[in-house]
Amino acid sequence: MKHVLYLSILLGIACSVPPSDAMAKTPDGREVFDRNCSVCHPINPPPKSAPPVASLSSRYHEKFATKAQGVAHMEVFLKKPDKSKVIDSRAIARFGLMPVITMTDAERTAVASWFWDQYDPEMRRGRGMGGGQRRLMNQ
Ligand code: HEC
Repeated sequence: MKHVLYLSILLGIACSVPPSDAMAKTPDGREVFDRNCSVCHPINPPPKSAPPVASLSSRYHEKFATKAQGVAHMEVFLKKPDKSKVIDSRAIARFGLMPVITMTDAERTAVASWFWDQYDPEMRRGRGMGGGQRRLMNQ
């Protein structure tokens, strides 16, 4: 019981860091994702109320030649999700258009960059054979 108390005090301190300190360092993409995106987007299939990050990242890698292009497109989309900007219109038909998530520019860049890096080539290779299911080569 005591431990729980200490833990909550520690957490309380960690969460009360003034925003100016938090802004000073570059935001961590994974943290931004956990806070703002994970309610709807799971990292791996199956989808929740939005497509999994691994599938979206794979689509971005198919569509854009460089990380800079992919991240730039995602930043524009995140600022103002729009039907004409989505890379997969079937996702809209299935889940509806994504709402605007309020973030700073730095957070948008960090999370877009993290999204891009979640690409898993194994997932793409498995496509068509197992409906996009991962094939584990080293087992
Ligand atoms: C309220 C649920 C919800 C939250 C929260 C959410 N999304 Fe989405 N997102 C969706 C849905 C639904 C789609 C699929 C339809 C579409 O593309 O708009 C989507 C699509 C996307 C796409 C594909 C866009 C494209 O180019 O086609 C990206 C990238 C994305 N989300 C990133 C994020 C990031 C990053 C966050 C957090 C900062 C986030 N989403 C938070 C619901 C959400």
